[in-house]
Amino acid sequence: MKIDGTPYRSIWVDEEDGWSVRIIDQTKLPWSVDLVRLTTLEQMAHAIKAMLVRGAPLIGASAAYGVALAMRADASGAALDQAIECLAATRPTAINLRWALGRMRARLAPLPPAERAAAAYAEAARICDDDVGVNEAIGRHGLTLIQEKAREGGRVNILTHCNAGWLATVDWGTALAPIYMAHNSGLAVHVWVEETRPRNQGASLTAWELGKHGVPHTVIADNAGGHFMQHGDVDLVIVGTDRVTRQGDVCNKIGTYLKALAARDNGVPFWVALPSSTIDWTIRDGLADIPIEERAAAEVTTMTGRAMDGSITTVRIVPSASPAANPAFDVTPARLVTGLITERGLCEAREAALTQMFRDLA
Ligand code: MRU
Repeated sequence: MKIDGTPYRSIWVDEEDGWSVRIIDQTKLPWSVDLVRLTTLEQMAHAIKAMLVRGAPLIGASAAYGVALAMRADASGAALDQAIECLAATRPTAINLRWALGRMRARLAPLPPAERAAAAYAEAARICDDDVGVNEAIGRHGLTLIQEKAREGGRVNILTHCNAGWLATVDWGTALAPIYMAHNSGLAVHVWVEETRPRNQGASLTAWELGKHGVPHTVIADNAGGHFMQHGDVDLVIVGTDRVTRQGDVCNKIGTYLKALAARDNGVPFWVALPSSTIDWTIRDGLADIPIEERAAAEVTTMTGRAMDGSITTVRIVPSASPAANPAFDVTPARLVTGLITERGLCEAREAALTQMFRDLA
């Protein structure tokens, strides 16, 4: 997608040196577009953990390049094991991280060490290119839902939570891909962007992305989504996900479950967009079996923004003696999910439907 007319992906290999990895530091958005150069495994692990890069598919692609950086320094079997272990420990919930690391191990382990670095860069590049193709397909399938609503007349209002746009993937996004395609094809769409406390990925990233692409949108407090549904102002909910179980339970950014409940109560379709690399075929029960990342209390007790003098400032918003809890994700049971938008088409959030559509993976 474009930033001020220049096409970008969220991660790429530096064109000048041909090996270091460039990312957009997402902790600096929307205030500045800082392109960061990463040269070591440790720097990549830090970028994932501290959320300079985030979003399930992008975490996977970043981990793949983390392995490539590690192999450039030391391509021994021990170094490969250590790199994979280090990257796998950065964030626990998004399954794409483990998926990408599994793909890297399968490709690199059988090779002689001298061939591993070049093969790692090639495999990481393939993971990125595949992600772009998969998201484009998700966009095409999701577009049919928006076209269907548009035929009823008027602008289509879509509510989304967190950021499942191009910044969360290599390009296009998952939940936002159908929206970009609808907008590009001339359909009148408008997006309700939930701010997504505590880290505000909706207010800072989704709003920024949509704004850069000219997609009409309105930022709302997380607590306002149900109100707009009650008043008939939401035609569809589309969110992304960090892990889907084989029975179709959906783990996504904290607060998603409440929107699914509100959507069910108001008869609003609740769709989840995902690449098949987000499905964890080893588990059924999302509530019991998905590890939920606990992040620092400071993300809840403070907020960061631009002060009136232009400086970026962090302020405390909670009494200094009050503790805070910060689960980063929640699980929406399959029964609340209208359907899944995958690269192979629309699919019911049910084990039989998922295993039929992905027979070769399940
Ligand atoms: O904690 P984050 O910002 O990595 O969480 C991101 C989300 O929850 C996204 O909705 C999810 O990764 C889908 S990405 C296309």
